[in-house]
Amino acid sequence: MAGIDYTERIPNNVGLAENRRLLRALEEWHPKFLEWWQDMGPNGFQANEVYLRTAVSVGAQGWAQFGYVQMPEYRWGIFLAEPEPGRQISFGAHKGSAAWPEVPGEYRGVLRRLIVTQGDTEPASVEQQRHLGRTCPSVYDLRNLFQVNVEEGRHLWAMVYLLDAYFGRDGREESEALLQRRSGDADKPRILGAFNEKTPDWLSFFMFSFFTDRDGKYQLASLAESGFDPLSRTCRFMLTEEAHHMFVGETGVGRIVQRTCELMREHRTDDVSRHGGIDLPTMQRYINFHFSVSLDLFGSEISTNAANFYTMGLKGRFEETKKQDDHLLKDASYPVAALDADRIAVREEPALTSLNERLRDDYVADCARGVARWNEVIKRAGIDFELKLPHRGFHRAIGSFAEAKVSPDGRVVSEAEWDAHHREWLPTDQDRAFVQSLMQPVTERGKFASWIAPPARGINGQPIDFEYVRLA
Ligand SMILES: [Fe+2]
Ligand SMILES: [Fe+2]
Repeated sequence: MAGIDYTERIPNNVGLAENRRLLRALEEWHPKFLEWWQDMGPNGFQANEVYLRTAVSVGAQGWAQFGYVQMPEYRWGIFLAEPEPGRQISFGAHKGSAAWPEVPGEYRGVLRRLIVTQGDTEPASVEQQRHLGRTCPSVYDLRNLFQVNVEEGRHLWAMVYLLDAYFGRDGREESEALLQRRSGDADKPRILGAFNEKTPDWLSFFMFSFFTDRDGKYQLASLAESGFDPLSRTCRFMLTEEAHHMFVGETGVGRIVQRTCELMREHRTDDVSRHGGIDLPTMQRYINFHFSVSLDLFGSEISTNAANFYTMGLKGRFEETKKQDDHLLKDASYPVAALDADRIAVREEPALTSLNERLRDDYVADCARGVARWNEVIKRAGIDFELKLPHRGFHRAIGSFAEAKVSPDGRVVSEAEWDAHHREWLPTDQDRAFVQSLMQPVTERGKFASWIAPPARGINGQPIDFEYVRLA
């Protein structure tokens, strides 16, 4: 990597040129990152020019540039949102104190763990999606996949920046470990469950971007409230990019729904599989799967860790500063649905230990708004079918519902009932094989696979048949 001017190579607003120690750490890490990108990033297409957005500043207007880049040449920058002068910690035991510009000694370990856990999800999703380019439904979608991938790479840089700049030697070791774990690996898996699942096809990818990237939005939003100011500012900027990832997911699923409805009307049948479409009950099973594994990412309903992160001032609630209460939550309670023998009951629990559940509630409401927009597409086509989010207790591996079998409509069911019905509720091997059979690459500009409608408009004002990836 000799000859690279890193202050140029890494667009940043963190004064990298003046920080020799950080610059050296990143110079050492960058080649290892590129090695990881070659091994575990997008399979193929590394020499193709892709029409990508690159972050170049943090201004509300014009924070990004669009242009053709080969992915390994992408300028993975380090950007923090502008500091808020006089920012104070808005919750917990340190409420009212000035936000911390450095890591408070007593919280060093906890804070490092929070950053590493967030950081680990970023390369994990790139690994999960690495084979998808080979089966893209269009050049437009191929470009969106790569945009998401390079930005998840940049999010890894963002977390590595925090580790290298603020956590000394331990931080540098964690930065290396982030490149060593592998999604789905038996010996060194990624930290969180959903990030070890496979993303084997584009339906899964769009579902992942809608449901799992949205977990990211809520985690980042609560870390953006952090008393540790560099973390807060980093996460605030990451949220800007995350919005596009969820757009890719929502419009991706929406376009599949639209295409399915078109085929249903055209051929007067619910079974569109014979006509190269994905039927609505299969879509529902994919929703059930991706929603439930994403719910697990929020952790147990009752969590003393969550309470501690809050009281320490490290991780707030979603839109903490907009809430009208004491921001201490010592005497407050919160309604939590939990398993109560063979039924599900809502109980008032201490608000502090219920913070995971509260964040999950914000997330569920946001997901429901997206599902309602998909249902609009179905309704407009005059079709009588409604996609639904399953009950939060359905198919859970973490928290109180993990011990039970819960149906999508929220009944605690017997093993026997589960066995009789789970094939209606979760994607079957047959569903997955069918979806896989549709994954034939479409690489002609402006053309789309049989199972997905074209988007309403192109990227950055470009036409839909724009050469988003130069494949020749
Ligand atoms: Fe991310
Ligand atoms: Fe994302």
